[in-house]
Parts: sequence; structure tokens; C-alpha cells
Amino acid sequence: MPSQLKIVMIASECVPYAKTGGLADVAGALPKVLRALGHEVIVVIPKYSSIDEKKFGLRPFLSPMGVWMGNTQEWCSVYTTSNDGVPTYFIDFTRYFDRPGLYHDAAYNDYLDNPYRFGFLTRAGLQLCVDLNFKPDIVHVHDWHTALAPGFLKIWHWNDPILGGAASVLTIHNVAYQGNYDASCFDYLGLQWGNFTSDKFEDHGRINFLKGGIQYADVVNTVSPTYARETRSPELSYGMAPFLNGRGDNYVGILNGVDYTEWNPAVDKLIPAHFSPHDLSGKAACKAELQRQMGLEINSHVPIVGVVSRLAAQKGLDLLAQVIERTVSAMQVQFAILGSGDPGLEAFFRSAAERYPGRIGVYIGYSNPVAHLIEAGADFFIMPSLFEPCGLNQIYSLKYGTLPIVRATGGLDDTVEQYDEATGNGTGFKFSEPSAHAIFYTVGWAVSTYYDRKHHLNQMIQKAMQQDYSWEKSAHAYEELYAKAIRNKQGA
Ligand code: ADP
Ligand code: GLC
Repeated sequence: MPSQLKIVMIASECVPYAKTGGLADVAGALPKVLRALGHEVIVVIPKYSSIDEKKFGLRPFLSPMGVWMGNTQEWCSVYTTSNDGVPTYFIDFTRYFDRPGLYHDAAYNDYLDNPYRFGFLTRAGLQLCVDLNFKPDIVHVHDWHTALAPGFLKIWHWNDPILGGAASVLTIHNVAYQGNYDASCFDYLGLQWGNFTSDKFEDHGRINFLKGGIQYADVVNTVSPTYARETRSPELSYGMAPFLNGRGDNYVGILNGVDYTEWNPAVDKLIPAHFSPHDLSGKAACKAELQRQMGLEINSHVPIVGVVSRLAAQKGLDLLAQVIERTVSAMQVQFAILGSGDPGLEAFFRSAAERYPGRIGVYIGYSNPVAHLIEAGADFFIMPSLFEPCGLNQIYSLKYGTLPIVRATGGLDDTVEQYDEATGNGTGFKFSEPSAHAIFYTVGWAVSTYYDRKHHLNQMIQKAMQQDYSWEKSAHAYEELYAKAIRNKQGA
């Protein structure tokens, strides 16, 4: 394998341009670290209308670019900018991307043409390599949105002078989202009906983008070792277990890293005071500011439990909703909640804040500054997820000495070490049962530790803040994965 690889990443979101969740953090951070390791990486994402062209210095790069979709040739343009040295390209195609939302409208209805939009993005990403004369060793794609790339490469580009040698890598950030659609888009996608079979793209009579990716990619990975294991069994694989198991050791888990230039209380530009394991005094100032901004009673002696989350079923926050009132009634504790998503949960948390002023503070919406303030100012951070492929917020929390309270699943289980009451060892509080009952008692356990075992709490904070989940380690694991993809490709 060449020591310096040429890598193209195609993704539906990427920090700092467009983000709905952790996928954007990964697509933003991993290329930079790979570049620092000597690889040549380019990133391709859509040019959504929400991307601030001026702020990010986007400039027109190529126009027009012709992209074949089945028998139709679409004409788009390409913009570019540098993301800290990583050339990033934006596919500009009004019909598909000139909309405020990434995946859905303001009422959370998925755009009906999503298979067309993301099938197009994927094909455009490959076409751009040809137009750029960029001959990739690796085409690395993320989640269902771009999961058709491995299939496109094998069906259309196997003999192409630019793309024919590329090995493909599919990273699954969430197996619950598969891109499962009526097959009427199959002609437009140009995947050839001979491949509409149950061992390729077909799934119960429909097309399944993710399944096609799993079957065609040279290697497949997900974002934590535990989630890789969990998705090999039926309960958490949403029907994909047979295909993931079918890939044998070509399906692995690599834990995400985090970007400590952004998420580190010693340097964080978005918080009112800095702090570190050696000097925690700034954390008190952050806590007071968080209480002020969230309308909580300003009291340094009451612990705050933070939430920063998409309000989606996966996150288990409906279970928290069931016991939050009981919790703030039974214990001296406050909640600081930031989230958006499910309209029912949004309305519930809003009304809970009205019923329990000073004890429950809620910000419905998306706000990066508020997310940073919660990480810095809260004492605990809760993630009761039903499943969690990796989870980034609990890793950020560790760095801010904000002890995670998590359900022991996926990446949460891999990154949080259970508190041992005999010794004070550990970095957080874990429970197994996905229930409101378990949440109530685990929050109770954390709160009692806050009041009754301060020495343990301080010991845990020190240990948590010293954990290192920087990208370097994970980037080496991706280098090994790329090597394996290349071996598989060459063996094929
Ligand atoms: P997921 O990708 O499933 O949403 P992760 O924990 O991997 O979960 O990543 C979530 C990312 O999105 C984190 O960086 C978190 O700070 C951010 N985030 C989620 N909801 C919000 C919100 N309402 N406002 C600001 N940031 C948010
Ligand atoms: C997904 C998962 C989350 C993971 C993120 C980044 O959105 O839900 O657990 O951290 O992708 O890989």
C-alpha cells in the first residue's frame, strides 16, 4: 500500500458547514487528521442554501459539471473552499439542495426526493474526481446517503482510468437509517435492474441504500466496537445483521475521536471561563452563567444534569420525560436541556420548564454556544440512549469534568467507566435497563454521590478530564482499515 493515500470523502454533512449530528463532526475532523498524517484528502458535500458562502469563503470552482443519472445527464456546478487545509467541494444543484433543511422541512417531514438527492450527490462526488483528475486510492462514504458509491464504482467505474483502482469504505454511523425507498427511483439511480436482488439493493421489494453499501463496499465499519457487536444481532441491527455478519471480519468497529481544539475547557472560545484538571475554578463561573441563561436558580451547591441532543426516539429522552418531574421533586437537582426534534417532546420539555421554574431549564432549538455552555457548566450529563453507535457528547463531557450518566450501550459503554463505590474509581454512572425507573435511580445515585461522597466525585472528575479520545488513535485505525480495503480490492 502506498504510504500516502489519495482519499475522497463524500458525505451529506460536515462541520463547520452543515450539521445535524455527529456525522458532521466526523466528516469535519477525520480528514484533517488524515491530512496531518500525510494523506491527500478531499471532501465533497452538497451546497445547501443554509451554508453561509461569505463566512466560509466559498468560491465558484467548476461549471458546468455533467453527472449521469441513469439515462439522464444532470448539470450542476461546484464551489470550493479550504477547511483548515482540506480542500472541500460543494455540489451546487438548485433542484435538490437549495432548501433550508438537510433532510426534512421545518415540520420534520422528510423531503420526498431524498433518494434522488443523495444518489445524485454520490454520483456527483465520483464525477468530480474525474473532472479534477484526482485518482483516489480510497472512496470513503458515510451512512445511507452516500452508500451507493461502492455499488456505482463496481457497476460503472470498474474500468475507469481515474476511478477503476479505488477501494471503497463505508462507515455506518447509525444502522437505523437505511435509505429504504420505493424502487421507482431505481432507473434514475442507474443501478441496473439485474442488481435489484436480495443480495444487493433489494429489500422487501424496495431499494435499500445502506444494504447496497454493505454488500458492495470493500470494507464496512461502524463507530464503536460495542455497536459493531450489537449490530451483528437482530435486536439492534434493524434487519441488517445477516448482511453485516456476511461480511465477516470486513465489518469492524472504530471508535470516533473528538476534536479537542473545539471541545476542551482549557481553550474553548465559547465559554465564559476556562478551566483544567489542575484548576477547576472556572467551572463554577460556567455553572453560574448556565444557570442564568437557562433561568435556573443560581446556586453553586445544587447539581445540574445537562442534556444536548437530537430529540429522536433513539436517544431515550421520552423515558427521561416520564420521570423528570418526579426527579426534581424528590431531589435537589436541576436540569439544563438543549434539543430539537420530535415536536411532542419539544412541547413536553417546554411545559415542564414552565411548571418547574428554576429547576428545569430548556432551550428548544439548535445552538452550538449553548451546547458548549452546558458541557462546561453542568455537573452531570445524561444520555439514556436506546442505542448509541458512538455518541460524542459523553466524550466531550468527560473532558469538561461533567460526569456522564449513560445507558450501557454502543459507544456509551465503550467510553464511560462505571463508578465503583468502594474505591471511587470510574468516570460516570451506567445503567442497563432502558426504563424511566432506571433513569430515576441512576440520577439519584449520581446526585447522592454529589452530596455525600464529594471525595469520590472529585476523584472521578480528575480521571474523566484526563481521558484521551483524540482523533490520532482512531485515524491510525482508519489507516489500517484503508489498507484492508485496498487488499480486498486487489484480491477481487
Ligand atoms: P447524533 O449524531 O446521534 O446526534 P452524537 O452524540 O454523535 O449524536 O453527536 C451529536 C452532536 O450534535 C454533538 O456534537 C452535539 O453537541 C450536537 N448537537 C445535538 N443537538 C444539538 C443542539 N440542539 N444544539 C447544538 N448542538 C447539538
Ligand atoms: C450517529 C450516531 C452517533 C455517532 C455519530 C457520529 O449520528 O447516532 O452515536 O456518534 O453518528 O459517528
